[in-house]
Amino acid sequence: MPLQIKSLHPSFMGEVSDISLKDVFDESLLAEIRAGMDKYGVLVFKDQQFDDDEHLAFARRLDGELHAKTGSRTIAKNRFGNEALTDISNVDPTDENDVLKTNDRRRLYSLANRLWHTDASFEYPAGRYSMLYAYVIPPVSADTQFADMRTAYDRLDAQMKERIDGLMVHHSIAYSRQTLGFEFSPEEAAKIQGAVHPMVREFPNVGRKGLYLASHAASIEGMALPEARLLIKQLIEHATRDEFVYNHAWTTRDLVIWDNRATMHRATPFDDQNHLRELRRVTTLEIPPLEQSRAFDGVQGVH
Ligand SMILES: [Fe+2]
Repeated sequence: MPLQIKSLHPSFMGEVSDISLKDVFDESLLAEIRAGMDKYGVLVFKDQQFDDDEHLAFARRLDGELHAKTGSRTIAKNRFGNEALTDISNVDPTDENDVLKTNDRRRLYSLANRLWHTDASFEYPAGRYSMLYAYVIPPVSADTQFADMRTAYDRLDAQMKERIDGLMVHHSIAYSRQTLGFEFSPEEAAKIQGAVHPMVREFPNVGRKGLYLASHAASIEGMALPEARLLIKQLIEHATRDEFVYNHAWTTRDLVIWDNRATMHRATPFDDQNHLRELRRVTTLEIPPLEQSRAFDGVQGVH
């Protein structure tokens, strides 16, 4: 049976019905999911019954290699003992019934998830799909918003399209944290120098282009920093206008898959001192990487 996808927004976002992803092994069905990702950028799957191993195994079946060099590994040990399984929660690992306290460094680090970003753009190869699975959802709104970076690109005027064509951007997770005042030690920063990717990406499967930006976008090659950062801010402002944004309100056991190359996302604020929220994420890598992309090896280091 072909995949049933309901559109959730005029330009992107689909919800797939009647499918249990842990049981999907059929290559033609996996190919249909990938085609759905190409078209919608984000797919929502309700009521999935994953354990961690099934979650990881499905990610490998859908897209191959997993991202395990997360920024968070530089500041804390992974709670699950597996760097490919990212802890998107406010759970205190020393007492799993409690929340991370206000000034806990792990909490301060993760506050940057509330900035518009795309996962693993600071890596080479970059992140491709993220698959976020909801374990514990609080009774207050604690959502994830998505922005459609391909339609945002389409709506740029011709002069701006020409201006940004061919620009190369340095993405750094140290930079996105530093904009909030979070500091890494020199040893930590040395492990996360970042990566360089084109600002405009092509999606040959659907004949489209998209903006590739994030809070991690720190500088543009060949452009003075104030001019580069102003341009990045201006484009992120454009791309996150209401018309390009969808708000996903989570239900327990939702799995949401997004294409990090075609979207940005951010978590909405909630009272994380009084409510537990626990999701787990697996992100795949863009293999083969884009020809223009590379690991950052410049002398500028962390901005
Ligand atoms: Fe994220």
